[in-house]
Amino acid sequence: MGTEMAGYYWPIVTATAVVVISIAAPLLLAEVFPWRNLYKQRNAKLTVTAKSFQGKTVLITGANGAFGSRAASLIANRGVDTLVLVDVKDCEGVKSKILADISGPNKPNILVWQVDMLSYSSCQALAKKARELKSLDHVLMTAGILAFKPRKSPEGWESSIQVNFLSTALLALLLLPLLKSSPSNPASPVLTFTTTFGVYPSSLTMSVPKTGSYLGHLNNTKDGMIQAHQYGRSKALLLYFARELANRISRAQERGIQKVTVNSADPGSAWTPLTNPNQAKLIPRLIMDFSARDPMTCATALVNGVSATENTHGKIVIDYDLSPYPPFMERKSGRAAQQRVWQETKAEFKKKVPEVEAIYRILDGE
Ligand SMILES: *[C@@H]1O[C@H](CO)[C@@H](O)[C@H](O)[C@H]1NC(C)=O
Repeated sequence: MGTEMAGYYWPIVTATAVVVISIAAPLLLAEVFPWRNLYKQRNAKLTVTAKSFQGKTVLITGANGAFGSRAASLIANRGVDTLVLVDVKDCEGVKSKILADISGPNKPNILVWQVDMLSYSSCQALAKKARELKSLDHVLMTAGILAFKPRKSPEGWESSIQVNFLSTALLALLLLPLLKSSPSNPASPVLTFTTTFGVYPSSLTMSVPKTGSYLGHLNNTKDGMIQAHQYGRSKALLLYFARELANRISRAQERGIQKVTVNSADPGSAWTPLTNPNQAKLIPRLIMDFSARDPMTCATALVNGVSATENTHGKIVIDYDLSPYPPFMERKSGRAAQQRVWQETKAEFKKKVPEVEAIYRILDGE
């Protein structure tokens, strides 16, 4: 009897399993691994869409990095007036190389500034220095770290959360009032955050605790799997912040505040000094081998992101397209998490950086 029953059941069990897996697997995959985006990015042929940056001022953070330095060079070769190279490392070498590579007499004015994004005071000093710029047409934020071990910043946060999220967000807020198109630029200024597909797999570790601080919950202190997700987690926080910031800027514009475009651009992935340690890790290496492209293509995508039109405000730009936000961010829980991120970040900044007060007053319409 038992075996006869099993004979009846197996096809049903198998069929059910096949149906469940064939429905669940793509959903899970869409949730944690955006393979379509990665496949498309790997094969994309990109060119810089902006014909010229003539008369403009462009500031790039992470300008010593693989993407930042290449983006700087692409922009310098298109007639930019002033280029501000910002990094924790000295960018004099990047500057000399860029100037040497430009043929012809029209060389841009290149400023080399330093910032240590582990500390708020260094970000504050940078923003103060930026007040001397006559205009600020484009800000491209590529600065970021990949931390394989938990390390505490002087501000008391795990270093990826500090650099990739908190200090990047703070710098964006402090630079916001300084964004101003140069007289020859009819478009609104653009600020671009750098995002990554790494947000997708880390989404499984992004649940919000019922009580206590969400940021504190993500402030990892232990070695291991969670630390491997800190990069994606910090970038997910940044994506929440970017979307909320864009919303609030739109509402402030309705109240008469000047127009600015804030978007996020995904450069795609490449083997660079930042990602090279992944060569030794099986899964990250397989993912990279599936998706990696030339660092110059990644830089081109970022340059196009930061010279995009105002249609990209509050959106994610991947190559020539707008991409939807990751599924977890679109759910009701994601919308609620976004408000938590905004409020907790605001409390952190208000406590430690007094000059954000005036900026939040404008953004929050208080
Ligand atoms: C983050 O973790 C560190 C330990 O690395 C701890 O000292 C610090 O208080 C935590 N910060 C917050 C804000 O939870």
